[in-house]
Amino acid sequence: MTKYVITGGKPLYGTIDISGAKNAAVAIIPAALLVDGVCRIENIPQISDVTLILNILQDLGAEVRTVNRTTVDIDCSHVRNQPVPHQLARKIRASYYLIGALLSRFGSAQVPPPGGCDLGGRPIDQHIKGFTAMGADVDVRGGYIHATARDGRLKGSQVYLDIVSVGATMNIMLAATLADGLTIIENAAKEPHIVDLANFLNSMGADIMGAGTDVIKVRGVDRLAGGTYSIIPDQIEAGTYMAAVAAAGGQVRIHNIIPKHLECITAKLQEMGVSVVEDGDDLVVSRRGALSRANVKTMPYPGFPTDMQPQIAAVLCLAQGTSVLTEGVWDNRYRYVDEFRRLGAQIQVDGKVAVIEGVSQLTGAPVRACDLRAGAALVIAGLAAHGVTEIDSIYHIERGYEDIVRKLTGVGADIRVVITPDQEEAQANAG
Ligand code: EPZ
Repeated sequence: MTKYVITGGKPLYGTIDISGAKNAAVAIIPAALLVDGVCRIENIPQISDVTLILNILQDLGAEVRTVNRTTVDIDCSHVRNQPVPHQLARKIRASYYLIGALLSRFGSAQVPPPGGCDLGGRPIDQHIKGFTAMGADVDVRGGYIHATARDGRLKGSQVYLDIVSVGATMNIMLAATLADGLTIIENAAKEPHIVDLANFLNSMGADIMGAGTDVIKVRGVDRLAGGTYSIIPDQIEAGTYMAAVAAAGGQVRIHNIIPKHLECITAKLQEMGVSVVEDGDDLVVSRRGALSRANVKTMPYPGFPTDMQPQIAAVLCLAQGTSVLTEGVWDNRYRYVDEFRRLGAQIQVDGKVAVIEGVSQLTGAPVRACDLRAGAALVIAGLAAHGVTEIDSIYHIERGYEDIVRKLTGVGADIRVVITPDQEEAQANAG
């Protein structure tokens, strides 16, 4: 069993480099399936979700060559249209992008229902609505989602999303890229990774306009050619380290970010008394005095991101006064609250609302990461807490944060990876 052991209470000083965006990478890598030729993708984060999606492509016959730590060449010329293996697809949410990508390229796809963090119900009806509008038959049989274009190739169509969905917006963009004619996606999501996917596809020859607004127009083309593309910096990784400085104190330069993508997080931290100063492609975050309470509601971009909700909760736990946190995207994103309570946090949850009474001090304790962002939030709480916090199930955290231990020790945090034999193994050895 691998744990993080954090001795908290030390302010953070130095610089943290931000990696490429996870939620852009896990869509852009499957998008390489549409490209005729070699795609060079730069600024890929080294995280387990990326390894998984690359493994899925390799299983389908893609050639993946590592150029350097953050760059891969992907050649999908010899990809076969075969069912995506269960054991890989179920470990990752982003496996749903294979439906749009394979449907676009081959006119059919067989993909198991996706996995990912447990945040309550995670339906994909809006993805299916889009594929169906473009002339696909979609059903679930034998543990697979089967999607087949009735005429062998999808047809451009108008799709109004009933709910603003990041995944559905990107999946329909993928499906529409090689479709016949114009697809218009209305009520589209506007997250930075949607713009990044559109920029990637356009740089390979697609015709996509309006990404970043709520109406995206995709004019289908016959083929995409190879090229080179660099993924944007990770908004949520940057926000997580900003929250860590807010909670633990100190001054850290968050290096290589797009300040615009972080405006909502910056504004909220400033409201709480944290100094955030923009300096080119960096933000300098510092906190010396007390934190003030704040209300936070998560919403689709450009609102406050749901993927920062647990991390901002960790900061609010240490703010003076009562804060109200409202989850506006997922049904059940407060599963981490019991773990926070072990550290001395005072949080009451009623449905989608959490009321947080700030405390002057958290105290280290053994805790468990229940999903990716909840795990990151426990790291933040542990950095601020007095004493030792041990976090297990850290594989959740490593799905989305490249080198988190190295990055934090680089700014003075006392965080170590400790490997202990798990109980069963220990008992077997003892026997
Ligand atoms: C993406 O998930 C991200 N995952 C999530 O990040 C993120 O929390 C979420 O977008 C919102 O920003 C990836 O990019 C791989 P949605 P996704 O479709 O696409 C409902 C992280 O920590 N909905 O935008 O699955 C849904 O239930 C992860 O990095 C439908 O009802 O999210 C939710 O309430 C966790 N029907 C809302 O829409 C659908 O067909 C938004 O979901 C699709 C979604």
